[in-house]
Amino acid sequence: MNHPSPLSTARASWEQRYQHNPRPWTGQANAILARWVQPLTPGSALDLGCSEGNSAVWMAQQGRQVTGVDISATALDRAAQHAADAGVSTRTRFEQHDLEQSFPAGQVDLVYALYLQSPVAFPRDIVLRQAADAVAIGGLLLVIEHASAPSWVKDSEVQSPSAQKALDTIGQDLDQWETVFAGTPERQVTETSSPDGQVGTIKDNIIALRRLKS
Ligand SMILES: C[S@@+](CC[C@H](N)C(=O)[O-])C[C@H]1O[C@@H](n2cnc3c(N)ncnc32)[C@H](O)[C@@H]1O
Repeated sequence: MNHPSPLSTARASWEQRYQHNPRPWTGQANAILARWVQPLTPGSALDLGCSEGNSAVWMAQQGRQVTGVDISATALDRAAQHAADAGVSTRTRFEQHDLEQSFPAGQVDLVYALYLQSPVAFPRDIVLRQAADAVAIGGLLLVIEHASAPSWVKDSEVQSPSAQKALDTIGQDLDQWETVFAGTPERQVTETSSPDGQVGTIKDNIIALRRLKS
């Protein structure tokens, strides 16, 4: 009897999510991502775990050449359609990768991973190291991840990685990088509220590293 590998389980799990739950199209980048990216000179970008393309399309509209990567073919098809609808197909490219198995070739000015987290097997350390390798000299690696459950969730079982752990993972090469920011700020949750309608807080890890040399 064949047993599926954890990674084929990951692909099936995300595929099923997207097939059954299309996300509402916002056409907007995540607000934290936008705050970090807006001051940068537009160049090439790589969106790891691009989902249905909200951020990638927004990046392209800002003049960037963006490659969006995801494990789910359904999410990528929708991303490509959104890019076409927004008139930015020539500045976007969407590639299916299971990031443990394969990674887009080359280096770009901005590599970002926005909530690239998964309830099923996810090779965070491997992906972080490859993400760092994909940043060109002078470019930025930006990792934004959930670091806590919303404050109204008591006894959360979510094991949140620390920002320092991400730095340790990229670790051996840190002399080649300027740490622009590595921390875990708290913010008000605006996208949802507690079951009794209260606004809570949530923490994000934000890691921004600039490559100084190869
Ligand atoms: C929590 S969602 C975040 C999506 C998007 N970046 C955002 O912030 O809305 C995680 C995304 O990572 C993708 N993903 C999960 N595991 C992956 C893997 N091993 N390789 C590539 N993409 C993966 C999922 O399909 C999903 O689109």
